[in-house]
Amino acid sequence: MENASVHTPAFDMVLFGGTGDLVMRKLLPSLYQAHAAKLLNEQGRLLALGRRDMDRAAYLALVEKNSRIHIKEAYSDADWQSFTDRIDYLQLDAATAAHYPALAAKLQHEGERVTVCYLATAPDLFEGICDNLAAVGLNHERVRVVLEKPLGHDLASSHDINQAVARHFQEQQLYRIDHYLGKESVQNLLSIRFANALFEPLWRREWIHDVQITIAEDLGVGTRGDFYDNTGALRDMVQNHLLQLLCIVAMEPPANLGADAVRDEKLKVLKALRPFTEQDVAGKTVRAQYKAGAVGGQPVVAYLQEQGIPAGSQTETFVAIKAEIDNWRWAGVPFFLRTGKRMQERVAEIVINFRDVPHHLFPSPLGLNTANRLVIRLQPEESIRLYFLAKEPGDTQRLQPVHLNLDFHESFKARRADAYERLLLDVIRGKLALFMRRDELVEAWRWVEPIMNNWARTTTPPKQYTAGTWGPAASSALLSRDGISWHEEC
Ligand code: BG6
Repeated sequence: MENASVHTPAFDMVLFGGTGDLVMRKLLPSLYQAHAAKLLNEQGRLLALGRRDMDRAAYLALVEKNSRIHIKEAYSDADWQSFTDRIDYLQLDAATAAHYPALAAKLQHEGERVTVCYLATAPDLFEGICDNLAAVGLNHERVRVVLEKPLGHDLASSHDINQAVARHFQEQQLYRIDHYLGKESVQNLLSIRFANALFEPLWRREWIHDVQITIAEDLGVGTRGDFYDNTGALRDMVQNHLLQLLCIVAMEPPANLGADAVRDEKLKVLKALRPFTEQDVAGKTVRAQYKAGAVGGQPVVAYLQEQGIPAGSQTETFVAIKAEIDNWRWAGVPFFLRTGKRMQERVAEIVINFRDVPHHLFPSPLGLNTANRLVIRLQPEESIRLYFLAKEPGDTQRLQPVHLNLDFHESFKARRADAYERLLLDVIRGKLALFMRRDELVEAWRWVEPIMNNWARTTTPPKQYTAGTWGPAASSALLSRDGISWHEEC
């Protein structure tokens, strides 16, 4: 196993929002995994911050109750004990400047020790937190700030946040997290494209007919109704995760894997996305909301009946978009993006549909509009499938799709870090490649904003889809206009 602890500097990780959902459900379990795999420097400490008046023992009791249950593998009492030895708690109101000297006093500043401030709070607190950190000197060059999404609500508000943060921190101190970039299969997509000669010559308009990127969830909005209703699927998933996946698929080969080389190429893709006119929004986007249905055989309520959702809410829980990239490589190739809550299954995948052969010698299998497709599945399991047409055995000319299957769990037995673990280690090590640069964020907002504005103005309510399905009929219709269908409908 990679022994990276030598390369991981000593650190203090300060967790703003220390009693919140993200810290309990994702960050602490991921840090535990890194600890159990001996990837964290022995001098690494975690300091959780929260408004609640409690001592360390009470905080650890909370962690025991709310966080330990999310550890999926490699649990041992001994590792858990040594992990919690790293954790401390400090009562601090993030908006109160007078509380910060106590924070500065808790941190050690000797040698190469790194301070990571993870802002797992609402974004409206980011500005105040950065001002307060700087006021007690916690913006020196070994301080790194992790900014959780959503970074703003639109282009203007994200600009304000970025400006406020930039008053105290250099761009290379800022880690804007998009956890999709930490997923192993997204990393793998880069190596499939750029470490193999096989696909890259075909990876262009001459050979690719269309690209489909889906992130479907079977869960509803759960207890996050308040947050979600002000956000919606476009801001929650498309502006960040889906666009980042699109960038990885569409970018040019970078000169090297350095942070700026990769981010420069992603930025070019974002800049080349064709802007939406008013008419495009009507014809090339679908927004919908789930109604009651059944998921996994269990009845589930409509979005409007979920906890914290105001009557008559028009927030979208499903989005499908036909995106186009105006550059030499991708002109004329539609990129279909789709995401939704309460869909039939939890699945995230990228489907590359190659063009048809120029002349058919064999009768085409009925209903099949493409012979070759590459399906890169991110979750629930990671795999890559390459589809071909092959002749059925025997005295026939009939063709059937067959596939080559790459199962990464079969090929590599090594433990796979989850996205947050990988990204947290990258922050501690100072590796920025998998984090969004400010200009990327600006371009992503710029592209989704006309869609958001148009939906905000329209009096037409979102379409409806039954919970437990693949979305509204309009989503299939979006593709059928190009003579194709979503991968699972083929
Ligand atoms: C988050 C969204 O960024 O991603 C959530 O805010 C969503 O609404 C989640 O459920 C999906 O992440 P994953 O890794 O479970 O697919």
